[in-house]
Amino acid sequence: MNNPRSDQPSETAKITIGDKVVSCPVVTGVENEKALDISGLRNQTGYVTYDEGYANTASCLSSITFIDGEKGILRYRGIPVEELAEKRSFIEVAHLLIFGHLPSVSEKSAFSKLLTSNCMIHDNMVKLFDNLPSSSHPMATLSAMVVTLSAYYPELIKPEMSAEEMNKIIAELLAKIRTLAAYSYKKSIGEPIIYPKREYKYVENFLHMMFSTPVDEYPLDKEVVDALEKILILHADHEQNCSTSTVRLVGSSKANLFASISAGICALWGPLHGGANQAVIEMLEEIVRDGGDVKKVIEKAKDKNNPFLLMGFGHRIYKNFDPRAKVIKGICDTVLTKLGINDPCLEVAKTIEEAALKDDFFIQRKLYPNVDFYSGIILRAIGIPTNMFTVIFAMGRLPGWIAHWKEQCESPNKKIGRPRQIYVGAPLTHI
Ligand code: CMC
Repeated sequence: MNNPRSDQPSETAKITIGDKVVSCPVVTGVENEKALDISGLRNQTGYVTYDEGYANTASCLSSITFIDGEKGILRYRGIPVEELAEKRSFIEVAHLLIFGHLPSVSEKSAFSKLLTSNCMIHDNMVKLFDNLPSSSHPMATLSAMVVTLSAYYPELIKPEMSAEEMNKIIAELLAKIRTLAAYSYKKSIGEPIIYPKREYKYVENFLHMMFSTPVDEYPLDKEVVDALEKILILHADHEQNCSTSTVRLVGSSKANLFASISAGICALWGPLHGGANQAVIEMLEEIVRDGGDVKKVIEKAKDKNNPFLLMGFGHRIYKNFDPRAKVIKGICDTVLTKLGINDPCLEVAKTIEEAALKDDFFIQRKLYPNVDFYSGIILRAIGIPTNMFTVIFAMGRLPGWIAHWKEQCESPNKKIGRPRQIYVGAPLTHI
């Protein structure tokens, strides 16, 4: 592998196994992160590395997102996420992640037009919603519908794509996901679906399709649109997390974009990942119902004999603070004040945060509120039902997933993802 930093002197590390010494090239990232390239280890020694949960393993070189978990830094293509949330729209950020730069005025207008013109769903596909039980979790519906796009739009799927064909499939998916997400919700509450409007922007159209009915037009509120826009931006990428790694792993077999993203949606669904925003609100509601005894909850989270975790706390990467959580907390206060909502869950959340940040258990383990701790309270305030929270996360994360899938397709390294294992089962046994 060529070292991505040609300005750095080449460095090697030595691994000694018995009387064998293996030289491993050191790979240095733009921000001076160091990694050992162990790709020759097995051939030279017969050994593989063991790293449960891939906590110390870089699976690729990527130029999309940089995170420094110790310092609480998150940047998309070099730009701090806080700046993007303050100054740019979700569509501009999607363009940045996917194409590597913020769009010019004309690029933005062309990109928006492309998204608007592709937001409709094939009518036969819409009928599929009728056959799903109304009790379907919207994440199940969304992942099923996204992979089903492969069946209804086969002309978009090609083993090798030109730049134009790649842009087309990307725009189709970005445009259609919000329509599919809103339809999933409408079907789950037994209401007729609402078609998107050409004159509405991305987030406005999503809110319109979610909340307008054939008889009532949903009144768009600037603060609500802004809040959702920012939430989507803050979720837009997070380098090699569980769902993005899933998208890359599935994509490495050359599975098409719809199939790869559908797999990512399923990975996101779990409560330790994107499903945490739903789990946080359910936890907060339970605490409020139970009388709001925060001390009891903190003790329960610390009890090693109890599987209970403080949902919305902790992160594999952030060990100081989650920069997204800081912005989200601010939006939470703004939106609730603007909408005049006094949510007891917000009070409980703030009390939990205060108590946990003073508690040795949480301090020693570097457990802080993550992005999901306050996002659910905002989503609830703007009327998004709890089971749609993770769908919102998926809509936000889509540009990141697409950017990683595209980066992998365009990378000269086309190796299929295939980790090793250490077998610990039965030894040879004859029947
Ligand atoms: N409540 C109580 N204890 C916790 C928590 C928590 N939320 N999170 C971690 N711990 C403890 C854990 O029990 C362990 O203790 P010990 O060292 O005594 O065994 C220690 O902290 C380290 O935890 P870990 O499980 O080894 O950490 P991890 O990096 O493998 O897991 C995590 C990270 C996010 C899965 C975990 O912190 C967690 O389950 N949090 C709750 C779920 C959650 O909020 N998930 C959303 C993450 S942010 C959105 C996203 O990017 O997906």
